[in-house]
Amino acid sequence: VVFSGFRGALNQQLSKTARVVIISNGTVFALHGQSLLKEILPANLQVESLMIGDGEKYKSKNTVNSLYDHLFDLGIDRSDTIIAFGGGVVGDTAGYVAATYKRGVNLVQVPTTLLSMVDSSVGGKTGINHRLGKNLIGAFYHPGGVLIHPAWLTTLGRREMIEGLAEIIKAGFLSSAAMLRTASGLDPEYSQVNSQDYLRLIRSAITFKAGVVAGDPYDKGRRAILNFGHTFGHAIEKAEGYRRYHHGEAVLAGMVGALHLSQKQGGLSKALLGEYLEYLIPLISHLKPLKKEVGDYISPMAVDKKNKGGKRIFVLLKRIGRPEVRAVGSMASIKESVEFMIDFVNNRGKW
Ligand SMILES: NC(=O)c1ccc[n+]([C@@H]2O[C@H](COP(=O)([O-])OP(=O)(O)OC[C@H]3O[C@@H](n4cnc5c(N)ncnc54)[C@H](O)[C@@H]3O)[C@@H](O)[C@H]2O)c1
Repeated sequence: VVFSGFRGALNQQLSKTARVVIISNGTVFALHGQSLLKEILPANLQVESLMIGDGEKYKSKNTVNSLYDHLFDLGIDRSDTIIAFGGGVVGDTAGYVAATYKRGVNLVQVPTTLLSMVDSSVGGKTGINHRLGKNLIGAFYHPGGVLIHPAWLTTLGRREMIEGLAEIIKAGFLSSAAMLRTASGLDPEYSQVNSQDYLRLIRSAITFKAGVVAGDPYDKGRRAILNFGHTFGHAIEKAEGYRRYHHGEAVLAGMVGALHLSQKQGGLSKALLGEYLEYLIPLISHLKPLKKEVGDYISPMAVDKKNKGGKRIFVLLKRIGRPEVRAVGSMASIKESVEFMIDFVNNRGKW
C-alpha cells in the first residue's frame, strides 16, 4: 500500500508497464480524473480509460463482458496494467476483469471512497453480483499495489463517509481501543482539520486488515472475524431494503446487536458492554430508524452463509481485540439482542 505522498514505489511498479488502462466511472473520473493523471501517475505513461456505470447494479457480467471487449479492441496484453479508480464497485469489477482477462494482468487499486480505502481494496477479493445474490462470482486476486490519496475524500457524501467509518470502528473493536476512540470522535466530514486523524486511521485499519488476510488469504478460517456486526447488518440490509440502509450503515447498527449478544453469549462483561456501546453513539445518531418487526430481522439470519448445522454463527467479542466466531443456539438471546439493537438505534443510543 502506497500513500500518495510516497509515490516512488508506484512509479517503480508502473515503470515495467507499457500501457495502463484506467477503469473508473463518470462520477469519480469527472471529480478526480485530472488529479490522478496530472498529480499521481508518471507523466510518460500511455494511458487509456474505460468508464463503467455508477452503482451496485453495474457490478455485473454485462459490465465485465463489455470491458473484455474494449480491452481486446485496445490490444491490451499481460505486460500492461489495469488501474481500478473508484469505490468498491469499480474496485471489485475492475479487479475481477484484471484477474481473468488473459488469465490475469497487473492490477493497481486506486480507491476513492473511505470504505474502499480501508476495506475493499485490501484483501484480494474481486468479483461481481449474480441475479441470485451479491458477490457470488469472483476470484481472489491481489493487486500489485494500492495507492491511497485521502484528499479525494473531500467530495464524498456523508453517508459514504459513515460507511467507511463503520468499517474502521469494526477494525477498532477487533484490534485497538485507540483506533476505536479516534474513529468514534471524528466528524464524518473529511476536511483539512481532521485529515491527519483520517490518515492515521486509514493506515491502522489497512494494517489490521492486511494482517488478518495474510494469515488466512483464502477466507477459510480466521478471516471470518472481519464479519463482526455483519450477521445483524446483513439482516438489516435485507429487512430495510438496500437503498434505505447502505451496507456500512447496517454494519454500524449491526455492531450494537453483536455487542449485546457478546454480553449474553460471548463472555463480554456488562460494564464493558456499556463502555463499548458509547463508541457507537456519535455515528448511530446519523442513522434512519429501524422500522420493521423483530422477526423481519431474524428470518434473514437463517440463510446466512456462515451458518452450520442449523446453528447461527456470529462473531462475538470478549473484549477489544478478542473476537471469537461462535455458533449460537439460543434463539431467545438472538431475539433479545435484535430488540435491544432496534431500541438503541431508534432512541439514538439511549438505553
Ligand atoms: N472486495 C472486498 O473485500 C469488499 C469489501 C467491502 C465491500 N466491497 C464491495 O464494495 C462495494 C461498495 O463500495 P463503496 O461503498 O465504495 O461504493 P461505490 O463504489 O458504489 O461508491 C459509492 C458512491 O461514491 C461515488 N464516489 C466514489 N469516490 C468518490 C469521491 N471521492 N467523491 C465523490 N463520490 C465518490 C461512487 O461513484 C458511488 O456513487 C460493494 O459492491 C461491496 O460489495 C468489497
